[in-house]
Amino acid sequence: MIEARQLTKFFGEHKAVDGVSFTVEKGEILGFLGPNAAGKSTTMRMLTGYLPPSAGTAVIGGCDICTDSLGARIKIGYLPENAPVYEDMTVTGFLAFCARIRGLSGSDADKAVERTIGKCFLEGVRRQMVGTLSKGFNQRVCFAQSILHDPEYLILDEPTDGLDPNQKHEVRSMIQEMGRDKAIILSTHILEEVDAVCTRAIIIANGRIEADDTPLGLRARSEKDGSLVARLGVPRDTDPLPGLEGMEGVRKVELLEKDGDRLVVRVFPVKKGEGLAALVVRHIADQGYTLESMTEESGRLDEVFRSITMKQAG
Ligand SMILES: Nc1ncnc2c1ncn2[C@@H]1O[C@H](COP(=O)(O)OP(=O)(O)O)[C@@H](O)[C@H]1O
Ligand SMILES: [Mg+2]
Repeated sequence: MIEARQLTKFFGEHKAVDGVSFTVEKGEILGFLGPNAAGKSTTMRMLTGYLPPSAGTAVIGGCDICTDSLGARIKIGYLPENAPVYEDMTVTGFLAFCARIRGLSGSDADKAVERTIGKCFLEGVRRQMVGTLSKGFNQRVCFAQSILHDPEYLILDEPTDGLDPNQKHEVRSMIQEMGRDKAIILSTHILEEVDAVCTRAIIIANGRIEADDTPLGLRARSEKDGSLVARLGVPRDTDPLPGLEGMEGVRKVELLEKDGDRLVVRVFPVKKGEGLAALVVRHIADQGYTLESMTEESGRLDEVFRSITMKQAG
């Protein structure tokens, strides 16, 4: 497992990472979410032994990054931010070079390179110079380097940055497939990515962890989670809001839209999942209103993200 223990990093006076602790088990894909400059990359650089922590440490598969950095780094695959690669090597040459650095030689190295080229869909560009690749392929080559030695732990800094929607989809599928038997941390500021691939997410702002939850759990923190949005037809000059608001189990009602005698309201339950929809339907019928549609909304990650990170900024 990956364990961060009170990881802290100062750059001069500036505390970029402030006492970050968490664990990631095999089978988990942890999303590191946060605005720019939140401290995501710095945390990842410390986890991978690239930057020494100012305080705290991390333990990767039992190896402490401060006292057994090499032991930890052998177990890790790392895709750094902006996918740095050697531009004057061919794709195959670069991966063969990475295999040698990872201590593979002879047929083991060849097999690892071939397997990775297949897995990352690099067959078509294998003899091309890395410096002449498009951004998407460049990103894929760097991703390939991170999984070449089939590491137990994968740390990916914005793995889908700069990819087109199809490439994003491919990379996410690969991550999901690998997530079954590895522990993976990926950073992103794309909320849909967290929904699509992560089993858990940490929201980080100003170097501190502000939330650590499943995507579903995060969504449930949104005020709108479990609210009912109803489109109604009501007789002229009637206001259905007081009646709805007076119902048992209703916390509040908001008017979202009004167009003559048709309106859209949002009904917030006192408690989610208590079968309020059926009562609202009955109330509407009893009052002689017409119900055109009603949906139960689930919370939105972007709202939760904003409320958590803006609170920090303010
Ligand atoms: N090598 C460095 N020297 C000085 N400041 C740095 C350095 N690396 C990062 N920082 C600062 O630390 C903060 C966190 O940066 P970073 O970890 O890259 O954020 P994120 O990846 O979440 O966008 C930022 O304010 C950034 O300017
Ligand atoms: Mg970053």
